Amino acid sequence: MEFKEELKKYQDIVNSELEKYILKEECPEKVLNQSMEYSLMAGGKRLRPILIISTYQLFKDNIQQCMPYAIAVEMVHNFSLIHDDLPGIDNDDFRHGKPTNHKKFNEATAILAGDGLLNGAYQVISKDIKNTHYQELPSKLQVFEEFSEAINRLIAGEYVDTEYEGKEISNQYLEYIHKNKTGALIKLCVRIGAILAGASNQEIQELGEYAEKIGLAFQVKDDILSEEGDEKVLGKPVGNDASLKKCTYVSKYGLEGAKEILENLTKEAIKKLEPFGDKAQFLKELALYIQNRNR
Ligand code: IPE
Ligand code: IPE
Ligand code: MG
Ligand code: MG
Repeated sequence: MEFKEELKKYQDIVNSELEKYILKEECPEKVLNQSMEYSLMAGGKRLRPILIISTYQLFKDNIQQCMPYAIAVEMVHNFSLIHDDLPGIDNDDFRHGKPTNHKKFNEATAILAGDGLLNGAYQVISKDIKNTHYQELPSKLQVFEEFSEAINRLIAGEYVDTEYEGKEISNQYLEYIHKNKTGALIKLCVRIGAILAGASNQEIQELGEYAEKIGLAFQVKDDILSEEGDEKVLGKPVGNDASLKKCTYVSKYGLEGAKEILENLTKEAIKKLEPFGDKAQFLKELALYIQNRNR
C-alpha cells in the first residue's frame, strides 16, 4: 500500500474510534461537551495515535489492545492545543482552518474543555486497566506511569516556552523546550506501542531513540512552518512565533539552519530503525512525512 493510503487508513480507524467517545447526551454541560468534540474532531492529523498503532503492529496484529491508549493520547494532545491557543499562552485565533476553541466558544469553556479532555484521557486508561488480565497488568502500569510523566514534560515544556518569549536562550534550553512540549508525547506513543505489544527492552529502547529524533524533528518543522508555511494549507497562523518573539529553531539557527537540523534528525531517526528491517517501512516513511509535511 502507498504511504498516503496507509496514513489515510489509519486516520479513518482513529477517527471512527474517537467518535465512540464523544458525549452526546442532553445535560446542563452539553455545550462544554460540544466544545470538546469541536476540537477533537476538527481535522487533526492523528499522528500520535497512528504512532502507537503502527509501532504496535511491528510486533502484533490485534490493534484493539492499544486503542484506548491511542484515544487517550489524542485527547491529551487536543487538551494541549486548546490551552496552547488561549490568550494567556499563544493567543491564536484559528487552528485547523477554524476558530480556536476559545474563539468559537469562550475562554472559560475552552479552559474547561481542555481539563475535560485531559481527565477524559485518564478515564479511558483507567477503564482499560480495570478490565486488564493480571498477566498484562505490569506492562499497563508501566505505560500508565510513562503516560503521566510525558504529560508532566509537555506542561513543563509549555511553561518554559512561554517564560522565554522575547528572551535570549541557549541551544540547550531551546532543545529542552522542544523535547518537552512536543517530543515527550511523541516518544511516549512509540514506547506505548512497543511496550503493549510485548517488545523486548532493547527493542523498546531502540524505538524510543527513533521517536526522540522524530519528536524533536516534528517541532523543528512546526517552527519552520510557522515561518514559511501556507496559512490556508496549515490551517493555523503563520508568523505567530515571530510576533510573540518565541524562541524557535528558526529564530536561533535561521531558516536554512533549522532545515539542516531537521534533515539530520530525520536521517538519524531512520537509522535507528535499521534493526527492524522492512517491517519498519511505515515508520520510516512517517519520519520523512514529518520532515516534508506542509500542515
Ligand atoms: C501541533 O501538533 C502542535 C505541536 C505539538 C507542534 P500537530 O500538527 O500534530 O496537530 P494536529 O492534531 O495534526 O492538528
Ligand atoms: C505546541 O507548540 C506544543 C503543545 C501544544 C504542547 P506550538 O505552540 O509551537 O504549536 P502550534 O504551532 O500552536 O501548533
Ligand atoms: Mg505554543
Ligand atoms: Mg501555539
